[in-house]
Amino acid sequence: MIGARITAIGTYVPEKRLTNFDLEQMVETTNDWIIQRTGIRERRISRPDEFTSDLCVAAVKDLMHRYNKKVEDVDMIIVATSTPDFPFPSVASIIQERLNIEQTGAIDLSAACAGFVYALHTANAYITSRLHKKILVIGADTISKITDYTDRSTCVLFGDGAGAVMVERDEQSKGFIGFHLGSEGSGAQYVYQTGLSNRVNEIELIDTNCLVQNGREVFRWAVRNVPTSVRQILNKTQLSLDKVDWFVPHSANLRIIEPICEKLEYPMEKTLFSLVDFGNTSAATIPLALDLGIREGKVKNGDKVLMYGFGAGLVQAGQLLEINFDDQINAPTAL
Ligand SMILES: CC(C)(COP(=O)(O)OP(=O)(O)OC[C@H]1O[C@@H](n2cnc3c(N)ncnc32)[C@H](O)[C@@H]1OP(=O)(O)O)[C@@H](O)C(=O)NCCC(=O)NCCS
Repeated sequence: MIGARITAIGTYVPEKRLTNFDLEQMVETTNDWIIQRTGIRERRISRPDEFTSDLCVAAVKDLMHRYNKKVEDVDMIIVATSTPDFPFPSVASIIQERLNIEQTGAIDLSAACAGFVYALHTANAYITSRLHKKILVIGADTISKITDYTDRSTCVLFGDGAGAVMVERDEQSKGFIGFHLGSEGSGAQYVYQTGLSNRVNEIELIDTNCLVQNGREVFRWAVRNVPTSVRQILNKTQLSLDKVDWFVPHSANLRIIEPICEKLEYPMEKTLFSLVDFGNTSAATIPLALDLGIREGKVKNGDKVLMYGFGAGLVQAGQLLEINFDDQINAPTAL
């Protein structure tokens, strides 16, 4: 049997904090409104000279330090991001050089806030098809760089961060249990940033360099779709939800997560999220939330974890895993 398992994790967030009280000075909003509608208290913002590749390198260094991992023999790097330093070269190529990995494949993957789970799925496929042995999967974004800080309905939501995991071949166990992927391009106009084109599905988009969204539509779509798709994964794997130790949905907004859990009849106490201190960090929310669970001693080897990403596309990706990390040798760097 050839299985794949996540052997190590590392995370990083920029130093600069942007609190709800800071936002009160920037747009017409209040700490109470933001907490009540989103659950977010603060987020981290990258410096003007700090980019997604810098966050990725710092997250990988945290992983290497904690698990005594070498990266020279990594044979594929997959970076899920919507905010690469450049359209090209890829972030993956930039960090290949900075991490001194001589011989590896390197690609960026675009699936917005579902990117990390899509990248995990890809890594599992590369490994179980015997094409690769050791893959760095990173979810990282600097959404602050494409945020309009005059738009109060979006700027309160987003922050910057990165999470890296190592996925390795494992002859003994099958860490990846089941998945679900989906895309509904008909909802593309609900979250976007214009690029070479400003038209989608015959609809003229607002031509701006910033992230634009119809928050209410995204909210409705996520609450309607995620529970149904989670049930599909459980049906396919013939596992009941009470066997899932931790649910890690994309940390877009606590007010989205709550009704999803309510519909699934899944306890909030077993749900991990990273939005309270970091906001919506797009491709980084899920590895950040998982790592918070590990740092707090909640997530343990043998636990079944259901990750569920969703976002611009509109895309969604779920992955059910059995956690079996290597031993952590050193304490993580403080976030
Ligand atoms: C953005 C979001 C928090 C807005 O919450 P909401 O309850 O849907 O609020 P609405 O957009 O209906 O706006 C309600 C009112 O609050 C106002 N408002 C919006 N942002 C505000 C803010 N930061 N502070 C105070 N008031 C605000 C609106 O202007 C509106 O006022 P009006 O009724 O006078 O027109 C919510 O829709 C959301 O989180 N959506 C999901 C977005 C998301 O996760 N996107 C990323 C997907 S990966």
